[in-house]
Amino acid sequence: MRSRLQMSQSPWLRPIAATGALTLLLSAPSSLAQQPANDEAAQQAFNNSCRTCHSVKDGDNRLGPNLNKILGRKAGSLPNYNYSPSMKDAGFVWDKDKLTRFMVKPDEVVSGNKMQPYGGVSAEDAAKVVAYLQAAGGQ
Ligand code: HEC
Repeated sequence: MRSRLQMSQSPWLRPIAATGALTLLLSAPSSLAQQPANDEAAQQAFNNSCRTCHSVKDGDNRLGPNLNKILGRKAGSLPNYNYSPSMKDAGFVWDKDKLTRFMVKPDEVVSGNKMQPYGGVSAEDAAKVVAYLQAAGGQ
């Protein structure tokens, strides 16, 4: 018959468990320190979702128009970029709210736009991208 003693945790296991807990405790602060600063996260979000087609440099149009000083710029207004008719006639000025909604659901803001193929971003990433555009593009 097994005694209750044999079933309980062996004493030699305890230091291992304690070491594991200690490792967790010690690694927590350093993993926090490795988190990128806010502006790096913002740039990362832009790089991941927009940079294939957009630059923030003035005059640097790629597949998409440059996004220099996009906050406060009239939609579809760059003279040297070939917009879709719907973007050209959008008739509003980009603000944070419009930009965020456009990133999440482009067609709801400018129906018939030609920003394709575009994978979309989460609302959280959209907020980061707006912060990046604001910081990088002047304004
Ligand atoms: C696959 C390429 C592509 C990607 C990726 C892309 N865009 Fe675009 N974007 C375009 C094109 C093309 C247009 C022009 C749309 C039109 O004329 O209808 C455009 C237009 C825009 C405009 C309107 C600019 C103006 O002058 O009015 C904004 C703002 C914009 N994009 C923001 C973004 C942001 C922010 C991201 C990333 C979250 C992004 N785009 C990702 C291709 C892209």
